[in-house]
Amino acid sequence: MLAKELSTPVLTVDLDVLERNLQRVAEACRKQGVGLRPHTKTHKTVEVARRQLALGAVGLTVAKVGEAEVMAGAGLDDILVAYPLMGQEKLRRLAALARARRIMISIDSETAAHELSKAASAQGATLGVLVEFDAGGHRCGVERGPAVVALAKAIEKLPGLKFRGVMSYFGNVWGTPEERRAETERVALRVAGALAALRVEQMPVEIVSGGSTPSLEFAHLIPGLTEIRPGTYVYNDLNTYYQGACRLEDCAVRVVATVVSTAVSGRAILDSGSKTLTSDLLNAGPKFGYGYIVEAPDAPIIKLNEEHGLVDTMPSKHEFYVGEVVTIIPNHACVAVNMHDEIVTLRQSEAVGCWKIAARGKIR
Ligand SMILES: Cc1ncc(COP(=O)(O)O)c(C=O)c1O
Repeated sequence: MLAKELSTPVLTVDLDVLERNLQRVAEACRKQGVGLRPHTKTHKTVEVARRQLALGAVGLTVAKVGEAEVMAGAGLDDILVAYPLMGQEKLRRLAALARARRIMISIDSETAAHELSKAASAQGATLGVLVEFDAGGHRCGVERGPAVVALAKAIEKLPGLKFRGVMSYFGNVWGTPEERRAETERVALRVAGALAALRVEQMPVEIVSGGSTPSLEFAHLIPGLTEIRPGTYVYNDLNTYYQGACRLEDCAVRVVATVVSTAVSGRAILDSGSKTLTSDLLNAGPKFGYGYIVEAPDAPIIKLNEEHGLVDTMPSKHEFYVGEVVTIIPNHACVAVNMHDEIVTLRQSEAVGCWKIAARGKIR
């Protein structure tokens, strides 16, 4: 069956593009001498994680215990929960996982360290811990310098925990290639600051984990980095494209949608609204619209209701008609994927299979 014959709305992935993206980044990491611990938040799918590991990934990254449970349940190992989890129920589940698998978590507070230690000790488990520091994104992470050392030392003293290194997310590396390179150079100084403080105290640092998709090509500019955690690179999206970090033809995921109404002049209505595409706006490029219609790039999706995508047909010569099937590149692949139970796999536009998005909706 061709992609355009599928029941819509439906999420699809072009396997040729996916495989090219996976290989390109595995190779880029090898060339830069840095390990790859991809964030599974983008695909949330065991079949993609397996392909990443087969191409040499050193492990996986998740944000939620539920995501870790899905990956571990499929037999995958060496999982970093790159999120400062709080709450006894989640920590109990995390410790249970750590009895059977290599599990690490990043934290930025002594409170989290004490809670983790209690949960791990209660089950006789050992959790690897990375200290998260702020590399300029101002989201999570202690100040680089003495605060990194203080938290690392606190972790070292607690039962059930093993201090393994440091971690940061480079969300501040964003924009044009020049802007991304310049910010990566600033990040490199901040990473150096964190590592210098630990070196003065002679603390062994096994893992220095950083990265993101927009910064991945500049990883070599950051001395000391042992691994990076890009997520979006597997599928790419409009945000990545508008930063010049991929081409349109590198966007592996498309939503296939049907035009259900053209009754209002200047409008075409798609069967894909916020429950399919999400309301995430673009953070790069024109910062406007809810996705890129491949068949009519000059017709923006200007508004979303839950089940309706409102297309402004005025700027385009494309003749939309009721029953027409179109393909949309989402603004932000990770959140779009999270809206769908499954993703149809394509080869040359032919549907060849379907993967369960097993870790979708695992918000705890
Ligand atoms: C902690 C952490 N690491 C890695 C990533 C992956 O970033 P990207 O999707 O830009 O590759 C994210 C994304 O939000 C993240 O929060």
